[in-house]
Parts: sequence; C-alpha cells; structure tokens
Amino acid sequence: MQEKEIKIRVIACQLDELTIEERHLIEKAKEATNLSYAPYSMFNVGAAVLLDNGEVIQGSNQENAAYPSGLCAERVAMFYTNSRFPNVAPKILAVAGRSKDGFLKQPISPCGSCRQVLLETELRYKQDIEILLYGTDVIYKLFSSKDLLPLAFNKSTLK
Ligand code: THU
Repeated sequence: MQEKEIKIRVIACQLDELTIEERHLIEKAKEATNLSYAPYSMFNVGAAVLLDNGEVIQGSNQENAAYPSGLCAERVAMFYTNSRFPNVAPKILAVAGRSKDGFLKQPISPCGSCRQVLLETELRYKQDIEILLYGTDVIYKLFSSKDLLPLAFNKSTLK
C-alpha cells in the first residue's frame, strides 16, 4: 500500500495583483450576476469567458421549478461559448457569486459537473483555461481546470 499526494496549484491574490484583462473579466462575471434567474436559491452566479479571439461571453445561473433542470453559470457560459465559437479556444474563465448579503467573501467554488465540463473544454481545444474564482476577501487563480478536478474521468479513460 502506498499513499499518494496529489498537488494542485492555486494562487491566492488581490485584484491589484491581476492584469487589466483579468480584472476586466472579473467585472464581466460580477455584472453577469445581474442576469441570473435564481428565484429558488436567491444565489446569483455570473461567469465570463474570454476567448482567444478577444470575445467575452457572459453566462449566469438559470434555475427551474424542477430543480435539476436548472444550470450553473459556468456551464451556461461555457456551452454557449462553444456553440457560438466552436473553433475558438477559451482562454480565461472568471466566476463570481452573490447572495442577499452581497458578493461572497471567499472565492466561489464551481460544482463537480461544471469542473467536468471545463476539463472537457480544455481537452477539446488542447489549451489550458485560466480560472479566476472571485471573492471580496481573496481571489483564487488557477492555471488549468485540471487543478479543479484531480483524478478526473476523461476521454482517454474510454479507450
Ligand atoms: N451555482 C452556479 O451557478 N455556480 C456555482 O459555481 C455554484 C452554484 C448555482 C446553481 C444554483 O442555481 C445556485 O447557484 C445554488 O446552488
């Protein structure tokens, strides 16, 4: 028996430590929380994707009375991005979450299904996606969705 340690890489930082491009994308994610449809959870999430061609696509969580039919902001943004620009790789994803008390203090944490979709997108375009998880106290910056999903299931497992 052997214990294995899996390391992930996360940068904890403040807004003024990010590039203008990254800060702009976080603003777009925050802005997208205003487009959220979340009458059940009252938790508004916004996501913004910067593509290699400079386009920025926003998404927000869309809920449903049949709860599982709703979708997270990350997947709304990523699926729309991939359907609108199937030949352009996503470069950076920013995510922000807001409850009735305002934006979360700690960085928002994407759900497992969103992590799986981000990973598939990275593999599809053969390019890592930088991920910015916004919190008012601290922002987490990751250089790949692989750091969000260690031991992930992916298409190589199907071979
Ligand atoms: N949600 C997101 O959109 N993204 C996340 O990263 C976490 C959760 C949504 C799903 C649901 O509409 C609401 O937040 C509460 O879980």
